[in-house]
Amino acid sequence: MKDAAPNATPETIYLKDYTPFGFVVEEVHLTFRLAPRATRVLSRIRFAPNPEATDRTFFLHGEELRLISAKIDGQEVTPEVTDKGLTCAVPDGAFTWEAEVEISPETNTALEGLYMSNGMYCTQCEAEGFRKITFYPDRPDVMSTFTVLIEGDLPVLLSNGNKAGQGEGWAEWHDPWPKPAYLFALVAGDLVNHPDRFTTRSGRDVELNIWVREGDLHKCAFGMEALKKSMRWDEEVYGREYDLDIFNIVAVDDFNMGAMENKGLNIFNSSAVLASPDTATDMNFERIEAIIAHEYFHNWTGNRITCRDWFQLCLKEGLTVFRDAQFTADMRSAPVKRIDDARDLRARQFPEDNGPLSHPVRPDSFQEINNFYTATVYEKGAEVIGMLKRLVGDAGYYKALDLYFDRHDGQACTIEDWTKVFEDVTGRDLSQFKRWYTQSGTPRISVENSWADGTYTLTFTQETRPTPGQPDKAPQVIPIAVGLLGPNGDEVVPTTVLEMTEARQSFTFDKLAAEPVPSILRDFSAPVILDRQLSAAENAFLLAHDTDPFNRWEAGRNLARATLLDMVRDDAAPDGDYLDGIKAVLRDRDLDPAFRAQVLSLPAQSEIAQALHDGDTTPDPEAIYAAHEGLKLRLAEHLQDLLPTLYAENQVEGLYSPEAGPAGKRALAGAVLGLISRVDGGAQAGKQYEAADNMTLQLSALSNLLTAGKGEAELQAFYDQWHHDRLVMDKWFGLQVGHAAPDRAAEMARKLTEHPDFTLTNPNRFRAVMGALGMNHAGFHHASGAGYALMADKLIELDARNPQTTARMCAMFQTWRRYDAGRQAHARAALERIAGTEGLSRDTTEMVSRMLGDA
Ligand code: TRP
Ligand code: ZN
Repeated sequence: MKDAAPNATPETIYLKDYTPFGFVVEEVHLTFRLAPRATRVLSRIRFAPNPEATDRTFFLHGEELRLISAKIDGQEVTPEVTDKGLTCAVPDGAFTWEAEVEISPETNTALEGLYMSNGMYCTQCEAEGFRKITFYPDRPDVMSTFTVLIEGDLPVLLSNGNKAGQGEGWAEWHDPWPKPAYLFALVAGDLVNHPDRFTTRSGRDVELNIWVREGDLHKCAFGMEALKKSMRWDEEVYGREYDLDIFNIVAVDDFNMGAMENKGLNIFNSSAVLASPDTATDMNFERIEAIIAHEYFHNWTGNRITCRDWFQLCLKEGLTVFRDAQFTADMRSAPVKRIDDARDLRARQFPEDNGPLSHPVRPDSFQEINNFYTATVYEKGAEVIGMLKRLVGDAGYYKALDLYFDRHDGQACTIEDWTKVFEDVTGRDLSQFKRWYTQSGTPRISVENSWADGTYTLTFTQETRPTPGQPDKAPQVIPIAVGLLGPNGDEVVPTTVLEMTEARQSFTFDKLAAEPVPSILRDFSAPVILDRQLSAAENAFLLAHDTDPFNRWEAGRNLARATLLDMVRDDAAPDGDYLDGIKAVLRDRDLDPAFRAQVLSLPAQSEIAQALHDGDTTPDPEAIYAAHEGLKLRLAEHLQDLLPTLYAENQVEGLYSPEAGPAGKRALAGAVLGLISRVDGGAQAGKQYEAADNMTLQLSALSNLLTAGKGEAELQAFYDQWHHDRLVMDKWFGLQVGHAAPDRAAEMARKLTEHPDFTLTNPNRFRAVMGALGMNHAGFHHASGAGYALMADKLIELDARNPQTTARMCAMFQTWRRYDAGRQAHARAALERIAGTEGLSRDTTEMVSRMLGDA
């Protein structure tokens, strides 16, 4: 054997190098002869010179393909083939390319291209998976119509578009809408469907189906309702109708991400579509509703208008996340959705934006595009659209969107096309605003105020710290929604959007009778860090009086964070203002239970670690863990009189419904049970476990039994009851790792990876165990280094099968430089061990090298 050569540095792709492809594709015909290890794919593709391009190199992407034959205009040709694709001499004018290739779906463990999952064939082509199916210009700016013939002995054969014909052992599909190859999909399996219909507002009758394995048929009804609601909502709010005669959704167990918006044939991770009351929690139902909406909304924002190149990914993802958030806000509670999104952004996007993986919403270079399906592109990308909407107003926003759909339907677009429609409609100059797309890092805003003669002045300063590759930052346009409260809590100035454009900028409010209390960044109007040192009394005032629900919650959050920081730093007792403020909110029966549950939740341990690090203190994960536990106990004691009543009041009678109302009550009762279980030894949780008739109650009971140090018998009972159900078993795995004490977490995860039901082939199962370890803050970052070492072991094992999921999960290491020298040494060793693995994938190589780079 040769010396173990270091993994070659993969090639970097730059946005500035974009050039159009030399040819247009007029039509694509594909024939699939399905066989597990020897599927034949025959392509017949009509090419013509692209008048917009100068370079006529005929290069087709192709990876892991066995070329059987190739023809141009019926004549056999011998192209030059490498492991990336092929080149071939071609005629000057239009021509027909034909190729036959062989691929092996059964041994495709990367879950990209055509692969098999439990005997079913399925595809995943975004971003660059189509090149593993046949030779093709696999880039999003090449769009074409597809006709697909599938031959196979499975009863259900599906592809994009409308059904063109079918018979014994074959089916043909035709998609009349030109699309890039990443939206291609094929499914073949022994599936059954949950059917329905939808009539669009212009009268098109659409057949709807959710396709599943027989045993999952009872888990489809909710997803179907969510689909119909999404279709109606997009007509009503954006004026967008569905455009085919059929819309299919397929549930697949082995899937790298949540779901995929392939034209007319969405493919879903089972966990993102299947739900029944006895197997799925309220949170699962809500997530499913949002993902179904997200994928459906892509039909216009992504499919009809797609991306010119992968640097423009946020064009479809940011916008579609923004749209699905609007949908959820309309279906459920808008304030609670906003709070959820802010929590999620702080938990996932802020660490990314302020660490070694930081990149702009529109990156300008990458090695592996799969590594850029990030919280920054998706969630910060959606926040940028929210800011734009706040700046131009609702009317301006919807006018700009109408123009976008009108002007760009059928095109592959850029962020410049997107901002241009806003400029054209509103007359605004968005050149400074565009920094949100090009500048990475989270702006930090500090605030000073002054008061004299009835005039109140707020002065803001913005600063963005250097990020990898971007040492200097320019000021951004920041919409800061502000309201002012009078001394007795009345609102004296309603919400006003201040438009900050300078590094330092003042805004005045005059004719005020008394010095007001400001409520700043209402509704989380910008994805920034508001660095504002408020006294406990000021936060308590806002928690009691703020008329903006988001900021009311935020005030409680600030109190909780300050309390935890004091507990960690000075071993202080929990703050009285915090405890009393929470009690007052919990008592207020006019407040939505879901909102009260949000107020009761504590900032995550990782968020406290980040806050300490920002304040130049090295975080000690065990001290943070202890403070978290200590505060929960103290809350339980302080609220002791109130908790049993709250628990009883928020029980839901009657048939289970996943709607926001009952789910909110269960969320509050669940949070309350979490506290009760800290003082009653698990007695109430035990009762709830016995009585539970839905998964939300069963799981919260089991979780709280574990909190109370009980639940061994119930864990076994739960296993016996549910071992046949993969999605429920994922919860069983995850719960045990999540509840393990810091010094036991790595060992628990290791033990569970040796469980007979653990497998590396199913990403959901891998995430259930190893993702839960990453989320167990004090366990993963344990001083022994055991968490890091186990993670490295398992990621190395997984990388050989599934680079995409491995690379995504590597990001769990992204905060490693926050911690002390001992922990850093363990983390570095783990990362270097991954980096040094022979044959490591390009995906993982890029992630690990970015995390090890000088930051
Ligand atoms: N476009 C998909 C979405 O946001 C996500 C996606 C991208 C994906 N690449 C994937 C899903 C690979 C599964 C596998 O909805
Ligand atoms: Zn998406």
